[in-house]
Amino acid sequence: MKIAKTTDKVGRNDACPCGSGLKYKKCCHLNANSGEDGIKEHYYKKHKIRIKEARDIEAIRRSGALVISTLDMVEKHIRPGITTNDINTLVHEYTLKNHAVPAPLNYRGFPKSVCTSVNEVICHGIPSDRILEEGDIINVDVTSILDGYYADANKTFFVGEPGPDAKKIVKVARESLKRGLSAVKPGNTTGDIGHAIQTYAEGKGCSIVREFVGHGVGLDFHEPPQILHFGTSGTGIKLVEGMVFTVEPMINLGGKDLMILSDKWTAVTRDKSLSAQFEQTILVTKDGYDSLTPFDL
Ligand code: MF3
Ligand code: CO
Ligand code: CO
Repeated sequence: MKIAKTTDKVGRNDACPCGSGLKYKKCCHLNANSGEDGIKEHYYKKHKIRIKEARDIEAIRRSGALVISTLDMVEKHIRPGITTNDINTLVHEYTLKNHAVPAPLNYRGFPKSVCTSVNEVICHGIPSDRILEEGDIINVDVTSILDGYYADANKTFFVGEPGPDAKKIVKVARESLKRGLSAVKPGNTTGDIGHAIQTYAEGKGCSIVREFVGHGVGLDFHEPPQILHFGTSGTGIKLVEGMVFTVEPMINLGGKDLMILSDKWTAVTRDKSLSAQFEQTILVTKDGYDSLTPFDL
């Protein structure tokens, strides 16, 4: 007896024989091929997301280790009296000494090797002769390119002894990243990350910057997808093993609105309230995540 193998005759653009009403290529053909390669192909075709392979991941991890040792090195130098240019020199020289390239330098015209964002500066502060003062907070955002692979992380540091507002915003920003990361696992969506952050940070009376988002990273500085730090559970893109992206919520003590200064880079809070941020580069694993730029939160 001959059994018809119907699937052999179905074209990719034909209606799926399962009756879903979808094209075969979007339905059972995709599911039948959703081994690792099928998912990889699907995420690239549909979202331009490049799922990373083991050798990419290990290279991004090495780049991430350099980013973290750079931040650790910088932290030891943070004190009243140094300038943000001093931090730039430290990061630039340390990166080169470790056979890497500072990704910010000349990126879309950015003139320095690191972003240094003080007090009401939300992000993309340009190192200058500004002198750090007792009680300031400063975010240092380091992105290194090592063997062609990008890793991106930042921390906010206290300069001398912090006042109560500085303490609060840094604590909320740190915990915001932690809450966001706890939503990273296969089957969850990018919207789950934003939702976890928004619920927490707004619950603490703080606000979340909308204009800057987390991003895929690794093979390039900024890759798809965008990771919003606010939003609705279950929306956005489903997370799958092998995705690598940053989570980097910018949290303001006052309102969420920002202004960009005339240098075209420096983003400041419109109401001049303090803003703080922590960022890590994250790999989605089989049952959760692994930080490729790990530090305690
Ligand atoms: N490191 C920043 C980020 O987290 C991007 C800085 S772009 C620069 O995405 F040009 F300002 F360096
Ligand atoms: Co980033
Ligand atoms: Co960054």
